[in-house]
Amino acid sequence: MIPLPNLNLRSVKEYREPLSPSHRLLRSAGKYHLLIGVTGSVATIKLQELIAEIHKQSPPDKIVIKVVTTPNAMNFFNPIDLDEDVFDDRDEWSMWQSRGDPVLHIELRKWADTLLIAPLDANSLAKIAHGLCDNLLTSLVRAWDFNKPLYFAPAMNTAMWENPLTYQHMKTLKELLQFREIPPIEKELMCGDKGYGAMATVQMIASIIASVHNNCCPLVLSFIFIRSFNIRYFQKLHKMWVFGYGSLLWYTDFPYTEVVPGLVKGFSRRFYQLSPDHRGTPEQPGRAVTLVPEEKGTCWGLAYKVPEHAVESTIEYLNFRERAGYTCEQVEFHPDDGSPSFNLYVYISLDNPYYNPSDMDEIVNTIIRSRGRSGTNLEYALRLADVQRRLAPHYYDHHLFELERRLLDACISLRVEDKILQVLGYKLDYLACNASSDKAQILAEDMIFSKAG
Ligand SMILES: Cc1cc2nc3c(=O)[nH]c(=O)nc-3n(C[C@H](O)[C@H](O)[C@H](O)COP(=O)(O)O)c2cc1C
Repeated sequence: MIPLPNLNLRSVKEYREPLSPSHRLLRSAGKYHLLIGVTGSVATIKLQELIAEIHKQSPPDKIVIKVVTTPNAMNFFNPIDLDEDVFDDRDEWSMWQSRGDPVLHIELRKWADTLLIAPLDANSLAKIAHGLCDNLLTSLVRAWDFNKPLYFAPAMNTAMWENPLTYQHMKTLKELLQFREIPPIEKELMCGDKGYGAMATVQMIASIIASVHNNCCPLVLSFIFIRSFNIRYFQKLHKMWVFGYGSLLWYTDFPYTEVVPGLVKGFSRRFYQLSPDHRGTPEQPGRAVTLVPEEKGTCWGLAYKVPEHAVESTIEYLNFRERAGYTCEQVEFHPDDGSPSFNLYVYISLDNPYYNPSDMDEIVNTIIRSRGRSGTNLEYALRLADVQRRLAPHYYDHHLFELERRLLDACISLRVEDKILQVLGYKLDYLACNASSDKAQILAEDMIFSKAG
């Protein structure tokens, strides 16, 4: 269990006098104005780290950050620890005393180029989805200028995340309001539970903000889905990069300082790797992706830069994690932002007992029936398709999307009830029937494979 930080809980923080009506929010010429909203999630303790990372990943002296906090978020950080201005509910009402005085949430709306809410907790998510505006942050969101991007990074306990209400609220934010999600990840949560719902890493959030700021691939880095990986050294700079093209980021528990989306050419991603542990058992191995050399093949993925001090331990960790024999190949990586390609080494898994090229029927049959210690194989495959679509809408992976289609057909004919189907929003008729009778129970249950097994 991850110990909770030593929180200095305070319901009201009088860290400075509330602002007066004469306070003005001035924009600085040539700079990018970022507002960070924080809510009452424990992930708010990362605020200082997040701000530092955003500064690190953005061009120097080009970004100005201000913070808007809910009253509950102030239990998790102390504004005096920050160099940035922090606005709270008191300011909203102290700046406005009579007609003609500034209305803070409107002034903030005008001041900002982008609003990032990180973390967005379940309560504020629900309020925003329903249009409530009972504090400075929710009023700002309600009044938001839809010509400007709004990013949100949900953070909550897995039980909250898997509650059907969360799915509905997220849908409203993403589809109706067109806000952009920086999806949560799976890891050990601060409350000690292990599961999905933790806030995306600060590196990930910062790289998205930096890419918006640099006006390159603003939508691409909205989600990370990594597990299979290739390791390569960016020889010129003697930096190590990890290339992720497979499963979710829930095990990126190695440090990284940069994320670059892009393509590896000369390889295709295939579900040809047997998984006797994470997504299956030794008796009934599941399937994970691997890279297969193909002259005209390409594979889209994310490259993670591992800091020099952590290279050795990361290699050790990754070798242990995958426990398979890899052969080393040199490949070219092409960043999505058009910056120059560079050579790197990949470890591909053609030379090990778990490499198992098969036809689509066999892959579908295996995936639909397998589960391992990391969860169901179906979850793995559908999540991969989902993230590939969301992260790289410009890139179409035929093998993956064909597999997704075939898996959904199999789910329908076998009436598979895996909560991932609802989490990812697949609209399958038989699930809708079940949902109306007892959706909450289905979502709360573990995988039910009664008909598939
Ligand atoms: C120690 C602690 C940690 C919490 N962490 C979270 C969290 O990560 N996500 C969440 O949705 N709620 C979390 N909550 C509950 C919220 O703080 C609570 O719902 C609160 O009303 C949110 O208020 P706000 O959305 O106005 O900031 C936590 C509560 C406590 C006491």
